[in-house]
Amino acid sequence: MRSPLPSPEIVAASDAIKALRVSESRYRRLFETAQDGILLLNADTAQIEDVNPYLIDMLGYSHAEFLGKKIWEVGPFKDIALSKEMFARLQSTGYVSYEDLPLRTKTGALIAVEFVSNTYDCEGIRVIQCNIRDITLRKRAERQLTESEAHLHQLSIFLQTAREEDRAHFARELHDELGQNLAALRIDFNALSSSLTTMDPAITARLAAIDQVINSTVDAMRLMCEELRPGMLDDLGFEAAISSYAKNFTRQFGVPCDLLLDSEDYGLDKLLATSIFRIVQESLTNVARHARASHAMVALQDRGGDLLLSIADDGCGMSAELTGERKTYGMLGMRERVRMLGGRISIDSAPGRGTHIEVSIPRSELAIP
Ligand SMILES: Nc1ncnc2c1ncn2[C@@H]1O[C@H](COP(=O)(O)OP(=O)(O)O)[C@@H](O)[C@H]1O
Ligand SMILES: [Mg+2]
Repeated sequence: MRSPLPSPEIVAASDAIKALRVSESRYRRLFETAQDGILLLNADTAQIEDVNPYLIDMLGYSHAEFLGKKIWEVGPFKDIALSKEMFARLQSTGYVSYEDLPLRTKTGALIAVEFVSNTYDCEGIRVIQCNIRDITLRKRAERQLTESEAHLHQLSIFLQTAREEDRAHFARELHDELGQNLAALRIDFNALSSSLTTMDPAITARLAAIDQVINSTVDAMRLMCEELRPGMLDDLGFEAAISSYAKNFTRQFGVPCDLLLDSEDYGLDKLLATSIFRIVQESLTNVARHARASHAMVALQDRGGDLLLSIADDGCGMSAELTGERKTYGMLGMRERVRMLGGRISIDSAPGRGTHIEVSIPRSELAIP
C-alpha cells in the first residue's frame, strides 16, 4: 500500500521548520564566530541566556560557569552590577554604552572593554544584548601615541631653545670676530689711503670702491646679526625691538606696516618676547616674500591672562591647503612655537582675500621645563 501524500499543511509546516533551522544555523554561526564578545541577558531576571566563544576566551570562564547566573553573580560583571544602577538603566532605557569599562578575567587580570548594549523583544522575552570589545591593544597604542607626542613636544621645545641659543651665539661670534676684523680693516684702509699722495683718478676710484665694499659688508653683517638675534630685544626690550622691526620692514620692502601696541610695557619674559618677535618676523617675511600686499598690520593686545597677537595683510592670500597643517617649515615653526607656549593659532586666508594670522598665548602656561 502506498503511503498517503502529506497534506499541504504538513508540507508547509515542514518547510517552515526547515527555513527556521537554516536561519537558526546561520545566526548561530554569526554569534559563534563573531570577533567581539556577545552576552545575552534576560532583561527581567538579569540571568545570562548565552555567551559566545569569543567572550568565553576573553574572560577565561567556561560556558557553564556563565549560563543561568544572574549577571552580578559572575566575576567579570561584578563591576557592571556594582552598577546595579547600570543594570537598572539597561532595563529601563534598553541602551547603555561605555567606552572604557574594566572587566576582570578568571585569572584576576583586568581588561579594558568597550561595552554597548541594546534591548529587544524575542517572542515575548525581553533580551539585553551586550557587545563587548577588548580595547587593550587600542588603549596601549593610544598611550604610546600620547607618550610619543609628549616626547616630540619636549624635543621641539629643546630644539627651539637650542636654536635660539645657537643663533644668539652665532650673532655674537659674527659681531665680535668678523666685526673686529672689518673695523681693523677699515682703520688700516683709511690710514693707508690718506697716506697715499697719488692723484691718479683710476686709483682714487678703486679706493672709493673698496671703501664702498667695506661699508656694505659692515651693513650686511649688522643686518645678519639683527636677523639672527635682534640686539634691541636684549638691550632695549621687546616693544622697541618690534617697533624698529616694523619700521625697517616698511623701509626695506616699501609695504606700510601699522603696529598697534596697546601697552608700553607688556612685561614679557625672554621666552615670550623672543617667541612673539619670531612669529612676527616669520609672518612679515612671508608678507614680503609671498603676499604682494599693499598694507600690513601687526597688533598685540594684553588681555590680562593672555596675549593676542594679530598679523594681517591685504595681499594675494593662500589656499586652504597651505593654511592647514601641511609641512611648510615657516608656518610649521610658528605652530610649534605657539604649541610650546600652550597657545592657539589660527590662519585665516583665501586666494584674493589677504591673510590674517591670530595667535593667543597664555601668560601663565609656559611649557618650558
Ligand atoms: N602672507 C601670505 N600671503 C600669501 N601666501 C602666503 C603668506 N604666508 C605664507 N604663504 C604661502 O604659504 C607658503 C608656506 O609658507 P612658509 O611655511 O612660511 O614657507 P616659505 O615661506 O619658506 O615658503 C608660502 O610658500 C606661500 O605660498
Ligand atoms: Mg616663510
